Amino acid sequence: MTAQTKQLLPKATYFDPTWFERERRELFDQAWVFAGISRQLDNPGDFLTLRFMDHPLLVVRDGNGDLHAFHNLCRHRGCEVLEDTGNTGDAIMCPYHRWTYQLDGALRGVPNEAECFDGLAKSDLGLLPASVGEYAGMVFVNPSPAPKDDFAAFIANLDEHRWPHAFDAGDMQYSGEVVYEMHCNWKVFYENAVDGYHLGYLHDQTLGRVYPSKNVWEMAGRNHVWYSTEWEGERRSNTKLSVQMSDRYNAPRLHEYEETTYPGVVMLFPLTILSPSPWGFYVSVLEPKGPELTYMRTLAWAPGDGEDRFGISGKRAEPVRLEDLDKHPLESGNFQLEDMWIVEKVQRNLHSPNYQVGPLAQGDGAENPLTEFQRQILEFVPSGESACNS
Ligand code: FES
Ligand SMILES: [Fe+2]
Repeated sequence: MTAQTKQLLPKATYFDPTWFERERRELFDQAWVFAGISRQLDNPGDFLTLRFMDHPLLVVRDGNGDLHAFHNLCRHRGCEVLEDTGNTGDAIMCPYHRWTYQLDGALRGVPNEAECFDGLAKSDLGLLPASVGEYAGMVFVNPSPAPKDDFAAFIANLDEHRWPHAFDAGDMQYSGEVVYEMHCNWKVFYENAVDGYHLGYLHDQTLGRVYPSKNVWEMAGRNHVWYSTEWEGERRSNTKLSVQMSDRYNAPRLHEYEETTYPGVVMLFPLTILSPSPWGFYVSVLEPKGPELTYMRTLAWAPGDGEDRFGISGKRAEPVRLEDLDKHPLESGNFQLEDMWIVEKVQRNLHSPNYQVGPLAQGDGAENPLTEFQRQILEFVPSGESACNS
């Protein structure tokens, strides 16, 4: 046990709009988040765009092979300069008045400059930089040009927990994505995701008997990495659980898991979740929409024809909502829906004057990761309050 397991955050931090705005400015504005895969950005001029909280961002590869991230925001009157994905050639041209930027962000050309802009200081008007990093074939961005954690700190120690899936090996095909709409604060979802205590109970029908002594959360920097020992009795062995799952769903295996052990979940603080498995690879990105509304976008890759055995194929127009299910979440056979059901139940009760967090289950395989997660939040958003359990 690494530290005393206890609730550190006051309950208002799970619904208070003022706290949410503090998280937005003090945490998310400094946060690394998954943006896409390197394969999308192979060639000079290849770009992708995304919206992260209220930040429009773009990532582009230049002629030297370097990636750049910028705010997708023209320095003239703020128009998005690029949309979607594609190749922008050797320059980025805003469609509004055609100000043109180099791939390193510098402002290159302004139409009718001499006539319309007297003494324009073009060197001050480059695209606003953000930060970018690549790891294991994935691209991550950070809206800050100088974040509190640089990229090396963000991925610190992850090599000790590597999974076999390689986007650049060409053995994974994109199979689709789905968005879940969850009526909860993003931290309620995150805490549920790192809670090793609930697995064997809430998910006994979907994940099996993964009791606290049978699973391990290890920290890698601010990140949490999950291993199950249910099937082999050794630390760091997700092997048989994963293989049994893939057999159960009749999923072709992307990797042979018998010989080596891999993590089952990698929580990249604060918003990205990687789920490697023998049958595929999932990347989920939490999108905190408000103090009590969180979307989670899950992208799936699968081997061969890219068919995902868990039903994430194609792109659904509508988010998945509990109210649209035709059966109870506990009868869905889907652990994500089981989790959604629980986090919404907890969120509703946070408003009760009687709500209080009781004793937490001690241990890294139980609820200690909640404490560690909350400690990371407080490093970004220091709380002046001491009322931990109220
Ligand atoms: S807003 Fe981009 S050129 Fe005017
Ligand atoms: Fe769960």
